[in-house]
Parts: sequence; C-alpha cells; structure tokens
Amino acid sequence: MSDPILQISNVSKSFGGLKVLEDVSFNLTPGQRFGLIGPNGAGKTTVFNLLSGVYAVDRGSVVLAGKDITNLPIRERIGLGLSRSFQNIRLMPHLSVIENVLMGQHCQSSQITEMLKPINWMKNNKWKQRAMETLENAGLKVDPGSTVGELPYGVRKKIEVVRALMSKPSVLMLDEPAAGLNARETSELADFLHEISTRNVTLLLVEHDMNFIHALCERVAVLNFGSKIFEGTPKEVNRDKAVLEAYLGTSTLEASDAA
Ligand SMILES: Nc1ncnc2c1ncn2[C@@H]1O[C@H](COP(=O)(O)OP(=O)(O)OP(=O)(O)O)[C@@H](O)[C@H]1O
Ligand SMILES: [Mg+2]
Repeated sequence: MSDPILQISNVSKSFGGLKVLEDVSFNLTPGQRFGLIGPNGAGKTTVFNLLSGVYAVDRGSVVLAGKDITNLPIRERIGLGLSRSFQNIRLMPHLSVIENVLMGQHCQSSQITEMLKPINWMKNNKWKQRAMETLENAGLKVDPGSTVGELPYGVRKKIEVVRALMSKPSVLMLDEPAAGLNARETSELADFLHEISTRNVTLLLVEHDMNFIHALCERVAVLNFGSKIFEGTPKEVNRDKAVLEAYLGTSTLEASDAA
C-alpha cells in the first residue's frame, strides 16, 4: 500500500471551554476519495479549518506528503498542495466563467499587486492562461465566456471546484459540495469529482448527502461530538451500531437506506 498523502494524527481542538475535537486521526492515500461525515456540530468543518490552517491545533499533527504542516500558515499549505473550496466566497454572478476561475489565483500570487490586477488589464497574463488550462483539464464543458449568473446551479457548483483547482492541489477538501443540488445534479457532481480524482487529486469530502458519499467515496470516517467513532467503507458505515445511534433522531443517514 502506498504511503499516505495526508496524515491527521491525534488532533484535538477546544474553543474556550468547549472541546470540539478530541484525538481525531485518519489517513488518506494518494488518489483516494475519502468522506468525513457526522451529525450537525460534530466537528467536520473544524477539521477542515485545522487542516487548512484557519485555526491552530491544540494537540496533534498534520503531515502532507511526508512534510509536517501542523504549524504552517495557510498560504504555505496551499503552495504545498492542500486546497479547499471556498464555501463562503461565492462566485461572482455578473462575471464570466473564466474570470471566476481566475479568482482562484489569489491564494497563489506572491504579491498583493498581482491579486489586484484587473482581469483584463493584461490580455494574456499567466494567470489567465492557467485558468483556461484548469478549466480544460477539469473537463467541464462550458463556454469560458458565459456569464456565471446565467448558468444552472449545478454547473456553478462545478465552477467552484474548478476555481479551487487553480492551485494544482494534490489534496482537495470540499465542505458540503452537493448542498442545494437536486438528485440529478448531485449525481453529475459525483461523476465530475470522480473524474478529477483520477487525475492525481485526492479528495476529502464533508457531505450530509449519503447517496453522494456512497456514489463517490471509497472510505468514510464518522465524527460524533468531536470524536471519530467509525472508519471503514460506505457499506460498512450503514451497519455500524455506534454510527446508527449517533444518527438516531436525525434524517441524515436515513437517506442512505433508500440508496
Ligand atoms: N470559531 C469557533 N468558536 C467557537 N466554537 C466553534 C467555532 N467553530 C466551531 N465551533 C463549534 O464547534 C462545534 C463543531 O462545529 P463544526 O462547524 O466543526 O461542525 P460541523 O460538523 O461542520 O457541523 P455542520 O454539519 O452543521 O456543518 C460546534 O459546536 C460549533 O459551534
Ligand atoms: Mg460544517
């Protein structure tokens, strides 16, 4: 078996007196599609915030491709190949597809002036070329010049993913990428991400939609009240007693029973 691309070891985090994560460990192998699930407030987004460097861990370590990144700033982690989608930086609806993808360069630029360059200031600057390449490589069949606000929601979600690919990540973290999508769009997004993962991108996905997890992920870890209570295949997760108890009273896992 190949060495892990991402190793999360005994990570703990508290906010004030509130223990949010306790001794959480899991590893991702290169090219894997790994799901992180759990009820609301279990600590999933906090894991992403610790991995991407938004927050510092209290204890534990994060190793990316053999390098300890536990205490590195956000930008350095991105430079080393760890990227996440920007859930709260929405696409600009009045700009074109390519202009929106181009905005993903902001975390790659070394200088603030580069970030502030108006998009058409230099006709063929290197970022514009990179954005075109990224869009092409992702296999998203959409006119780069079309206005984002006029595209279906499912396509816009894919453009958000393409934007996160601008930094050429080896590990891409997506927090609830299927939120708000209908069943057909969810299935198309799963296919799209599956395709991306075959091009040397390891995926770490937080998602409530269990149909999506089943369609896409090879392995799943379950968090409950900040602790990992299960790790295994999506099939095994449905049979695990601790997981079923954690979800008791919520509708989240029930979706998978229908799958
Ligand atoms: N910056 C913060 N300060 C204080 N508490 C926080 C902070 N960030 C997260 N928390 C708390 O940590 C817990 C876990 O939150 P987190 O957002 O990681 O959960 P989640 O599993 O992503 O939930 P959801 O499925 O609803 O997105 C919650 O109780 C939340 O209120
Ligand atoms: Mg969350």
